[in-house]
Amino acid sequence: MPKTLILLFHRDLSKSHANAALSRAAAHVPGVEVVDMQARYPDGVIDMATDAAHEAQALLSADRIVLQFPIQWYSTPALLKAWQDAVLTRMFYMCAEAEGDRLAGTPLMICATAGNVPGAYRRGGVNHFTIDEILTPLRATAHRCGLLWQAPFIVFAADRLDDAALAAACDGYAAALTGGVQAVSEPQGIGAG
Ligand SMILES: Cc1cc2nc3c(=O)[nH]c(=O)nc-3n(C[C@H](O)[C@H](O)[C@H](O)COP(=O)(O)O)c2cc1C
Repeated sequence: MPKTLILLFHRDLSKSHANAALSRAAAHVPGVEVVDMQARYPDGVIDMATDAAHEAQALLSADRIVLQFPIQWYSTPALLKAWQDAVLTRMFYMCAEAEGDRLAGTPLMICATAGNVPGAYRRGGVNHFTIDEILTPLRATAHRCGLLWQAPFIVFAADRLDDAALAAACDGYAAALTGGVQAVSEPQGIGAG
């Protein structure tokens, strides 16, 4: 069975409304492993020699990689940037032949939650820029690393979803994880508009 590795970056899952529920739903999908990266690296430090070697092997053992996180200041949580700086730098600059080159071709999906509503993420909306534009640095990273960019799964209004909307988001996430690889770029959106 193909293996999907979800790396979850959330500062405090005990206070999470959306990501905690989404990750619980994902963990029930066959072939999916969810890793709470904050629990693994509580001090935010990822050592490039030791920790990153372990993370590299985990990525290489996966058939699909998912990076899941809440959008914070139109960007990713700091631990995700630390993971990129340690793990991707190791794999693609220090150990390219042994590690980075072997990861090329692996699909990458983003699952991001946003506090604001879809209408905020467009020209004329309060956030002016689209989610696709905000995810551009990650897409550029995927391009540099030869990862196949899948349609991002976005949950809007993530703090204020009622039980039914949160359940629908979880179902949508599970379906996206169950479905085959879609190398398309339009975000799939869930949430109040
Ligand atoms: C420091 C910080 C920055 C945030 N920046 C944004 C932002 O730029 N855009 C947005 O839509 N929501 C923003 N939010 C809201 C979070 O994305 C939202 O609370 C989160 O996705 C909810 O997921 P959770 O229930 O798993 O914590 C921010 C929240 C925090 C704490």
